[in-house]
Amino acid sequence: MDTEEFLKQVPLLRCLRAEDLKSLSAAFRVQSVRKGDVLFHKGSEGTTLYVIKKGSVKIVLSSMGGDEVILAIFSEGDFFGEMSLLDGMPRSADAVALEPSQLLVLNRSEFLRFLKGNDEAIAAILNGLSMRLRKTDDHLEDTCFLNISARFAKKLVELAEAHGQKEESGFLIDMDLKQRDLASMVGATRESINKELRTLREKGLVATEGNKIRIYNLERLKRRIH
Ligand code: CMP
Repeated sequence: MDTEEFLKQVPLLRCLRAEDLKSLSAAFRVQSVRKGDVLFHKGSEGTTLYVIKKGSVKIVLSSMGGDEVILAIFSEGDFFGEMSLLDGMPRSADAVALEPSQLLVLNRSEFLRFLKGNDEAIAAILNGLSMRLRKTDDHLEDTCFLNISARFAKKLVELAEAHGQKEESGFLIDMDLKQRDLASMVGATRESINKELRTLREKGLVATEGNKIRIYNLERLKRRIH
């Protein structure tokens, strides 16, 4: 699929008229990255917006000691890197490819030109920012008020619904997420995630195979969130 065909389906750009989409598509360049490649670090100057054509990228904060908090995982059709383009501040977090990925990259001046006089595009960006802030609020609320079992069950439900492959017996989460990654997503230690997975396996709710997680019973998993 060429860039223009693909961008037509991206929610952020759906509002564009055909001729605007055509000229905007020409302004994007394609960047291929390998698993683990760092697209940018927190604190660096932000000069580009990214749209994921294929693959997935994690947005992450890291401590000096090597601990991580994953703020978000973005996949096909999602955009990121808009914050520094909008406020002129440095990158707010690191972006790292979770798998071999293809990204469409737009420079700042083209991005700002795209927003100028395009009310629907501005509304789409504001909507995206608002949704991300809501999710971050939810995450903060969960970290403060839910125990680890509930937080982990909630994260598995979210991953299954957003990224899982539907199977006859449930959902397969095949994102190469290590226990350490799962721990970073719910603010827990790797050891506690290991223990949670063991409990869920014993209860017949999930099965694991390497870094793949198979969810057998989403409804029962949901009942653990309280
Ligand atoms: P920017 O600050 O340019 O670079 C890091 C990007 O990660 C940021 O733009 C957003 O696109 C994204 N990002 C930062 N914080 C969050 C968050 N809490 N939730 C989702 N995405 C985020």
